[in-house]
Amino acid sequence: MKASDFLKPANREEAELLEKLDAKRLPDHVAIIMDGNGRWAERRHLPRIAGHRAGVKAARGAIETCAQLHLPCLTLYAFSLENWRRPQTEVDFLMRLLRDYLKRELPAIHKNNIRMVFIGRQAQLPEGVRKDITEAMRFTEGNTGMKLVVALNYGGRAELTDAFNALLAEMNEARANGDASSFRADEDSISKNLYTAGLPDPDLLIRTSGEMRVSNFLLWQIAYAEIYVTEALWPDFSRARLLEALIEYQKRERRYGGLGAPRARAGTSGHAETADRESRAGGTSRPARG
Ligand code: FPP
Repeated sequence: MKASDFLKPANREEAELLEKLDAKRLPDHVAIIMDGNGRWAERRHLPRIAGHRAGVKAARGAIETCAQLHLPCLTLYAFSLENWRRPQTEVDFLMRLLRDYLKRELPAIHKNNIRMVFIGRQAQLPEGVRKDITEAMRFTEGNTGMKLVVALNYGGRAELTDAFNALLAEMNEARANGDASSFRADEDSISKNLYTAGLPDPDLLIRTSGEMRVSNFLLWQIAYAEIYVTEALWPDFSRARLLEALIEYQKRERRYGGLGAPRARAGTSGHAETADRESRAGGTSRPARG
């Protein structure tokens, strides 16, 4: 099974990259820190918002490519808890951009069998945004193809804090029922209380614009993720750049703290890669645009 069976290359560069990609060893979950919109705009003497607009286009491309490759899960870091520190006009623009994106793209996302999930502290989002994301999740909740997770008003430490508080509430309830003696937190109960409960942990974390930071993103979940940092600014993160990241991922030897048997090459170990790509490839409607 070749990657080019799913993805038609638009040019020679993509065709050459697709030749190098093993469709059977793709990650189950790719998470992306989309960085560099502002610098992209600055270099063109454009306002920062032009960079964000170009960033939406890049996001659309990445979503489309990942869906066409039948990846089970893609997470995009769209707005962090720290991003409220930006000028109000930029924050307002980013919220508007997301709402416009949903209005325009939701029908195609749905048609491509993509399920949208939003993670983050939604209660602090503007009412209109809350309404739109709730509607997007409801509209696509029956879809069985790729899960598109958008981290919005998200912070990794806040997520862990929320999980610990949920566990404390569980413990208090058990105590009230006279049943708390055996209550213990473990990795499983913490994972189940994260916003990402039920999703696989990311296998590959991509960060654009060259910064070597994880920026409070999925702190628990990226414990064993392969990290790929590219100098490309997010608006320049084309399909070819994404294919390069996937090819690099397939060269990595994933060890999970062990000694790295040959079978632990990225995409082949039994750790997180559980889905059967062959059946996945045949099992969903053919994605076009999302
Ligand atoms: C970082 O660029 C990017 C963001 C703050 C996130 C905004 C993301 C988009 C507009 C993409 C849209 C996503 C979806 C799901 C529609 P930056 O402003 O931090 O760049 P800089 O570091 O160069 O200033």
